[in-house]
This record gives sequence, structure tokens and C-alpha cells, in this order.
Amino acid sequence: MANFTLTINGEQHQVDVDPQMPLLWVIRDFVGLTGTKFGCGIAQCGACTVHLDGNATRSCVLPVSAVADKQITTIEGLSTEKSHPLQKAWIEHQVPQCGYCQSGQLMSAAALLKQKPKPTDADIDTAMQGNICRCGTYVRIRKAIHSAANLMSDATPTNKTGKP
Ligand code: FES
Ligand code: FES
Repeated sequence: MANFTLTINGEQHQVDVDPQMPLLWVIRDFVGLTGTKFGCGIAQCGACTVHLDGNATRSCVLPVSAVADKQITTIEGLSTEKSHPLQKAWIEHQVPQCGYCQSGQLMSAAALLKQKPKPTDADIDTAMQGNICRCGTYVRIRKAIHSAANLMSDATPTNKTGKP
């Protein structure tokens, strides 16, 4: 066992765990944030996706010892009151079916929009290909990501002075 200080959603958490324990286990069982889901456990489905320093990462295969100095964001940290444009778009398009894969889908989509604020269909398909949905919500996911991108660009202040 070893002691780690993890920064999750901007808050510090002390955990005393096996250094090889996957981050997913620590997040769910030791920190108590259960929005991140276990699907396959072998980095194949995307249900366990979180952000490490803003990048979408599979937490089921990542030892906790590898993340102590990183900023970790889980679905609970995306926004406190469903105010993130992706959450609004997910609701507008009624994306989830059983819902199991959806926190991972949202975290991958959020990482995509940080890197590409106006993604094409091809960008979306590439970024989301590691997130499997047994219910087949892919078409609604794509629509919702476009909607969220529009919401985000509408919310971006424009430079009215014309100066760079
Ligand atoms: S549970 Fe991590 S990718 Fe499936
Ligand atoms: S909504 Fe059921 S697995 Fe994706």
C-alpha cells in the first residue's frame, strides 16, 4: 500500500491503496465518485473515460501511481448543474438509452471540443470511435456534439473592436 494525493475535479483526495490499483477503482471505491463506469476493464469500451490534464484517458487500465501529479476530471467535474453545453445538448437530443456508456461518451466529447471547437463528422467519428454504445446511440451523439459546438461558439464573446 502507498499514500497518494489525487487532484480530482479540483479537489485533493488522500488515498492509501496498492500503487498498481487502476484509477477507476480508486475513483469509484475510495473517493466515492461513481459516475465513471466499469465496462470491459481492458481499455476497449470507453465507459471508464476520464480526463487527465484535459486528455481523454481510459481509467480502467491506468495504475493510480501514474496519475498523482495530474489533474483528473470525472463526469462529476464536467459541470455542477448540467450546465456544460454537452450536457445541455445531450438532454436536447435525448441521447442516452440505457445510459451505461454515456459518462464515457461525454468525457470523450468534452476532450474533443477542447481540441476542436468545430469538429466535422469525421473528427467526431475518429475521436469517439473508442467509445462503444451497445444501444447504438451514435447518430444522436454526433448530433449532440454539433449542437454543443454551436452552443459554445454562441457563448464565445466576439471582438467588436475589430482589433486583433
Ligand atoms: S472499462 Fe475501461 S475501456 Fe472499458
Ligand atoms: S446508451 Fe446504452 S450502452 Fe450506450
